[in-house]
Amino acid sequence: MTKTILRVLNGEAVWPPPVWLMRQAGRFLPEYRAVRAQTTGFMDLCTRPDLAAEVTMQPVRRFGMDAAILFSDILVLPWALGQKLEFAEGEGPVLPPIRTADDIAALDVSRVRGAIAPILETVRLVRAEIDQRAAEGIAETTLIGFAGSPFTVACYMIEGGGSKEFAHVRAMAHGQPELFQALMDKIIQATITYLSAQVLAGAEALMLFDSWAGILSPGLFRKHVIGASAQIVAKLRERFPRTPIIGFPRLGGMMLGEYATGTGVQAVAIDTSAEPSVAASMIPPHVALQGNLDPLALVAGGDALAAEAASILNALKGRPHIFNLGHGILPQTNPDHVAALIAQIRSA
Ligand code: CP3
Repeated sequence: MTKTILRVLNGEAVWPPPVWLMRQAGRFLPEYRAVRAQTTGFMDLCTRPDLAAEVTMQPVRRFGMDAAILFSDILVLPWALGQKLEFAEGEGPVLPPIRTADDIAALDVSRVRGAIAPILETVRLVRAEIDQRAAEGIAETTLIGFAGSPFTVACYMIEGGGSKEFAHVRAMAHGQPELFQALMDKIIQATITYLSAQVLAGAEALMLFDSWAGILSPGLFRKHVIGASAQIVAKLRERFPRTPIIGFPRLGGMMLGEYATGTGVQAVAIDTSAEPSVAASMIPPHVALQGNLDPLALVAGGDALAAEAASILNALKGRPHIFNLGHGILPQTNPDHVAALIAQIRSA
């Protein structure tokens, strides 16, 4: 266990902290846009392993990130379960909403293994490339696999796309708890299959993205965020005791401490709104923190960026910490600002 990210995920405070950025492969990079232009759409890119591996590696090569995050999407899972999925240009994902017991019955967990084959091939290609770079003494990079957390995946499946409120989701979780749980159970099973396969293909750490965790009341947060994630973490720890898991309960606020202890994750990714020192005081000291620069500070650049980054570095000094954003990098981000951030962290 020599890679810095794996040391941090094992509970060690490393200075300066390792760094990668959520959505580090994406539209802010001209080289990503060039690859994306060769495809017929986002899902085409996700299911062409050579191209997906290439865009996974782009930010690693350009900035020397400590992690490569698999290029895919959390909505690959509903797609693998048989729900139709389209990424309308400039509008985000569109899916036929799941609202009834029949809709849930039509989702087929046995399809998942076959459908995810191209994603697993991407994992293998990326792992081979990072192993090669390590053997040549270029850099040590950790390959992070991922999935959405069951609750956030359910949000898109039920609502049929993005939303500010996810009103249908919350109405179903409160008003039709058995129906909601039936959907969650299928997603949980499929996610365990999906993440296990990523580890077997070469992922060295895993991340669970719960982007909409913060919309739930405490009782439902306990059940559908903590409880569902805990089931996945327990199963993966049993199968792969040495593969650490990072949880991202976005806008989890006052529930962060309970999330850390209740799920058993090795790291909690904190969002932009979390005061790092307060989050650190809520989370047991052996659990790593990841985060939490405001993506808009990275858009701004200059002194504003340097000051925000310095305050996060200082607040979490002495704790196991992986520097990251508090949410995904924005498409309008100037790549030079990313380079400046990495230089600042490396020289801290
Ligand atoms: O670089 C990386 O982080 C790896 C790849 C990755 C993507 N999406 C690629 C992507 C990861 C880890 C995700 C996670 C994801 N996807 C989340 C959780 C994190 C978060 O941001 O809250 C969510 C909620 C999604 C769902 C999703 N995918 C939406 C709502 C959208 C449309 C909005 C947008 O940003 O365009 C996507 C599309 C998407 N996923 C793109 C990328 C690079 C842009 C599509 C394109 O290039 O055309």
